[in-house]
Amino acid sequence: MSKKILAANFKTNHTRASTHEYVEALDSALQKMGYGSEVYIFPPATALDRFATQSDIRIGAQNAYPTVKGSFTGETGLEQLGEFGIETLLIGHSERRHILGETQEFIAQKYAWFKEQNFTIVYCIGEPLEVREAGDEAVRRYIVEQLEGIDTVYDRLILAYEPVWAIGTGKTATPDLIEATHTMIKNLSERPLLYGGSVKPANIAEILAVPGCDGALIGTASWEVESMLDMLSKVKGEK
Ligand code: 13P
Repeated sequence: MSKKILAANFKTNHTRASTHEYVEALDSALQKMGYGSEVYIFPPATALDRFATQSDIRIGAQNAYPTVKGSFTGETGLEQLGEFGIETLLIGHSERRHILGETQEFIAQKYAWFKEQNFTIVYCIGEPLEVREAGDEAVRRYIVEQLEGIDTVYDRLILAYEPVWAIGTGKTATPDLIEATHTMIKNLSERPLLYGGSVKPANIAEILAVPGCDGALIGTASWEVESMLDMLSKVKGEK
């Protein structure tokens, strides 16, 4: 299998101590495996740190505010991320859009700001169930809106298609639906495109075999290091 990108979104799980244990275990296993593809880990903000890894594990932040520093209570700025050498950021996740109320306007502003800082940005898009049920054209329009204000040719952009109805529900999109949606998205941007939504050891090989799927963004099934390693071993990256 050609090089795939695997990313683990811890969401509001793991502590600082357990993140260290996880990254150490992952690092030594990846070295033994001779794993050569990109692996991203997005721990919660309290667990961000510099990790002494030998393999190519990249640590990213799940969220940050578009500022170097300042008065934005509860937020994390560039100075705080810089302390740990963090240069990767998740933007546009459906939980931030729908639970935390981030608007497309704010998301686009955040994207532009961190692009200026040359961050690698994993940018999430994906439709809720009612939009999917309204048909392909409704999905296309919804995704076009989620790309409004986003530089889709930015060379450090990685897109992640995560249908909201498949996140944390155990319901995975079928390979045919992933292929059709990825084909549509690839017409909007040629950057690498991950799939996310109930990816797990039992379905990852099938999902990554879908034409136009460049990797996976994994929530629940990434939280146990054994399960993450199981998935990584199934897509063993090329050196
Ligand atoms: P699950 O893998 O738990 O469905 O979560 C997907 C996700 O939201 C990753 O960002």
